[in-house]
Amino acid sequence: MEEGKTYNEDCLITMSKMPDNYIDFVITSPPYDNIRNYNGYSFEFEKIAKELFRIMKSGGVVVWVVADATIDGSETGTSFKQALFFKEIGFRLHDTMIYYKNNPMPQTGNRYHQHFEYMFVFSKGSPKTFNPITEPTKYQGLANMKNRGQNGSLDYEKVKRTKEKKVGNVFFYSIGGGISTKDKIAYNHPAIFPEKLVVDQINTWTNENDLVYDPFMGSGTTAKIAYLLNRRWIGSEISKEYVEISEERLKEYTENNLFTLI
Ligand SMILES: C[S@@+](CC[C@H](N)C(=O)[O-])C[C@H]1O[C@@H](n2cnc3c(N)ncnc32)[C@H](O)[C@@H]1O
Repeated sequence: MEEGKTYNEDCLITMSKMPDNYIDFVITSPPYDNIRNYNGYSFEFEKIAKELFRIMKSGGVVVWVVADATIDGSETGTSFKQALFFKEIGFRLHDTMIYYKNNPMPQTGNRYHQHFEYMFVFSKGSPKTFNPITEPTKYQGLANMKNRGQNGSLDYEKVKRTKEKKVGNVFFYSIGGGISTKDKIAYNHPAIFPEKLVVDQINTWTNENDLVYDPFMGSGTTAKIAYLLNRRWIGSEISKEYVEISEERLKEYTENNLFTLI
């Protein structure tokens, strides 16, 4: 396989060329529930999920960013169905994380504004890498930790608080023009990741030189962030127009040897 390249083809074709146990980390957002047309392309979910399981290394992690469309007044539940299917074929559902949008598109109607998408974290066995994002602990010294026994009893244990603690599994991002990315060209794609989301997930589940794959590369956010964080990467994107956008976007960084987010 050629690395540092987005293959302009169905991701099933790209994956068919990959050996078993090959990829360290996947971060992707599939074209869910036909919410957007993406130049008319569709995808075969079950086949893709099975191929992902085959190509992932043991301990590898897939972050699958999805939400549901509302059809005939009901959310489709597609995200849950997909999560359960990933489990059926052997992945662990390691964590159900939330991508919280600080500034979503306001919605009319009789439900609250849609503020989040799921970030399902699937792993092939136990994740081999976990570099948690931390924040300073407010209080120092000893803390009472509670553990509930099976009969409901509460056991208290004195635990020394550390200076830093892991953050929670809801990640907050502002989105939109000039915020998700500063690369103007990326906005020619209708559904880009905020770059910071990809930075956080790649930093958490991989180390430098690990191999990252995005089967639905779109405007190239995963490629750009993997490059900037010194990870190897491969992508697939079925639309020629989007591949061209992602190549153009990345060129600015590779040609100028830029390694910081601008
Ligand atoms: C939600 S977008 C991904 C956006 C991307 N995360 C970004 O930051 O720009 C999904 C992409 O999947 C592509 N796509 C749809 N079916 C595909 C397939 N079978 N194989 C590869 N790409 C596909 C669409 O053209 C679309 O660009």
